[in-house]
Amino acid sequence: MADELFENPRLAAIYDTFDHDRSDLDAYESMVDEFGARSVLDIGCGTGTLACRLSARGIEVIGLDPAAASLKVAQTKPWSERVTWIHGNVSKLPPLEVDLAVMTGNVAQVFLTDEEWQETLLAARAALQPGGRLVFETRKPEARGWLEWNREATHARLDIPNYGAVERWVDLTRVELPFVSFRFTYIFEKDGAVITSDSTLRFRSREEITSSLREAGLSLDEVREAPDRPGREFVFIARRPTT
Ligand SMILES: C[S@@+](CC[C@H](N)C(=O)[O-])C[C@H]1O[C@@H](n2cnc3c(N)ncnc32)[C@H](O)[C@@H]1O
Repeated sequence: MADELFENPRLAAIYDTFDHDRSDLDAYESMVDEFGARSVLDIGCGTGTLACRLSARGIEVIGLDPAAASLKVAQTKPWSERVTWIHGNVSKLPPLEVDLAVMTGNVAQVFLTDEEWQETLLAARAALQPGGRLVFETRKPEARGWLEWNREATHARLDIPNYGAVERWVDLTRVELPFVSFRFTYIFEKDGAVITSDSTLRFRSREEITSSLREAGLSLDEVREAPDRPGREFVFIARRPTT
């Protein structure tokens, strides 16, 4: 079960309005071109913004996510009818041979246990054609991004068609490294509904991720910076070996 933020139909419906700046996805689109990928598996695709952007460009896309409400939003977007949507985690993947697998929006941090993380890496490897790449980002623990996860820094109030004015902010609830927990609060002024969503993310070090990739039989090509968040993210580019 994914977090309320992605599972609750009301929250999933307004997710893109609050997180409207998706310039973070530009780097992924550029890498699709850089690597000449014609087929892409988007693990944890959420509301499908990247999947639909790639689909519009004639790329074959498979979007996977355990949050049904987010997938429902994804399926309303232009070009979504050409995407293959899969509800569930990686255990639901059919046999695939894609050129590129991605995890955008720090999906890599939702896997709290080593077992879940390994299962995801192994499934990504299995879904790639030999020589295919896995690209994902994860926040650098040393940047301590969670220090900004407070009401003062995050409070926003937006007027949203069909929903009216909605307030949203995040509170840090627990830091017990490598785990960081936080709570989103939403207030829907139209009917006074207050909905909260609790999340925990795992912050893995560069070394930890490097060895987990090796363990999953993936070779690490490169670690880049996220161009839109310099100093804050690792962007790992791994590859399924050809032999
Ligand atoms: C921060 S969102 C990012 C969504 C999307 N990649 C984006 O960039 O907009 C994290 C996503 O991970 C998904 N997720 C949670 N658990 C997962 C799992 N076990 N396997 C795959 N995705 C998962 C959530 O449902 C949610 O859609």
